[in-house]
Amino acid sequence: MPATRTRPLPASLLDWGRPRLRDLPWRATRDPWSVLVAEVMLQQTQVDRVVPRWKRFLERFPDMATCAAAPVGDVVREWSGLGYNRRAVNLHRCATQVAAQHGGRLPDDLGALLDLPGIGPYTARAVLAFAFERDVAVVDTNVARVLARRTGRRLTAREAQSLADAAVPSGEGWAWNQVLLDVGATVCRARSPHCGGCPVADGCAWRGEGDDPARGSAGVSVAQPAFEGSDRQGRGRLVAALGGGDVPDADLARVMGWPDDPGRAVRVALGVADDGLATHANGAWRLPG
Ligand code: ADE
Repeated sequence: MPATRTRPLPASLLDWGRPRLRDLPWRATRDPWSVLVAEVMLQQTQVDRVVPRWKRFLERFPDMATCAAAPVGDVVREWSGLGYNRRAVNLHRCATQVAAQHGGRLPDDLGALLDLPGIGPYTARAVLAFAFERDVAVVDTNVARVLARRTGRRLTAREAQSLADAAVPSGEGWAWNQVLLDVGATVCRARSPHCGGCPVADGCAWRGEGDDPARGSAGVSVAQPAFEGSDRQGRGRLVAALGGGDVPDADLARVMGWPDDPGRAVRVALGVADDGLATHANGAWRLPG
């Protein structure tokens, strides 16, 4: 068992990582709403695609009250193209609930954040660490991968979270978590990890040899199924088209890219409506009001 070679991540990783932190625009703010929008976008979308969309989204919805006051369809339209459009509906629900229950300000409290729509353990801790500079550990797919490899075996979600929590140097929650995200994204990469340039190779149980312990470990994302030809592709096309105006029933299958399969188009469109991303009335599909 290679676990005997494992050591906790050393706090000295901060000295290595702090000057190397990627210059990402959401790292220049502590505004909770701006941080939340970034973290929700980053959950399924790559950093370089998020950068311009994050800026544009915040110009349109600079605070939670503005987002809550807008029709959900406007938020979906602004989101369109980022993928997984349900995230926009959830963000709007979250903004509405925060406006109603918390005076429009995100709470600085794990339990209260977890009670909000669309906020799970990752997002709640990301808001605490990156907006409120609290010493909690953020475990996304990158960090989960680093921890499993270092430990040399698959971890449960609870193990990963407690290993991560134990490693946060006191008073350094913001920088520590950002450094770990960068180590995962740029050194301890999913494919072709750069173990030779890893600042914490010492004390790592894996070091790139043999089966990757991150595969199948809790919180480590698996490869996405092909997008081309998927239901997801049709969903995205429909939401993008609705952003430009109503789609009559007669156009639905063509708009979704399946002109010869209207049955599939209706089935998938009904799922889009179920998710709160579209409504259907009087023979046409439209964004929700
Ligand atoms: N992925 C998720 N959160 C991130 C962040 N704050 N910076 C870079 N990549 C991230």
